[in-house]
Amino acid sequence: MVEEDKLIVRKIKNGTIIDHIPAGQALNVLKLMGITGREGFRIALAMNVESRKLGKKDLVKIEYLELKPEDVSKIALIAPTATINIVRDYAVVKKSKVVLPDIIEGILKCKNPNCITNQPGEPVTPRFRKLSISPLKLICDYCDYMMTYEDIVKQLVGEE
Ligand code: CTP
Ligand code: ZN
Repeated sequence: MVEEDKLIVRKIKNGTIIDHIPAGQALNVLKLMGITGREGFRIALAMNVESRKLGKKDLVKIEYLELKPEDVSKIALIAPTATINIVRDYAVVKKSKVVLPDIIEGILKCKNPNCITNQPGEPVTPRFRKLSISPLKLICDYCDYMMTYEDIVKQLVGEE
């Protein structure tokens, strides 16, 4: 990784590093994971640091935490470019890119109030197709409403 973030945030012994988060979204990623900072484990954030791949990026280093699979799919919606590194005894033992599936089912609600998925008594699970990843755009499978990245972030964490 670029030297800059090594200087800003030192290496961790054990834990999870979520890297290549879109600049400005690190706090939203933590919020999405339900991490408040009051849990007691060590967390380091770097925001708006240089990245060869993204221009600018955020990253989060969390000591002593295993990521839940449902966290990973939510992270993919806010940070579709993110890399997840598991570190044990200072070495990266596992590196994976978050993957946003082509069909996103049951995580987001359609923003169109008239959509069948929003009708009372209709047990229709919302479902979206991926239209583009950068910027992220999703299309409702039922009403073709287009959800923008801002809509998605707002729904998942309550702000932009
Ligand atoms: N890292 C860390 N503590 C460690 C090992 C790695 O905080 N003990 C961090 C690095 O600072 C980097 C990320 O984990 O932000 C990934 O580390 P590494 O795989 O060594 O870096 P790169 O190969 O540059 O990663 P990528 O290819 O994903 O950009
Ligand atoms: Zn819809």
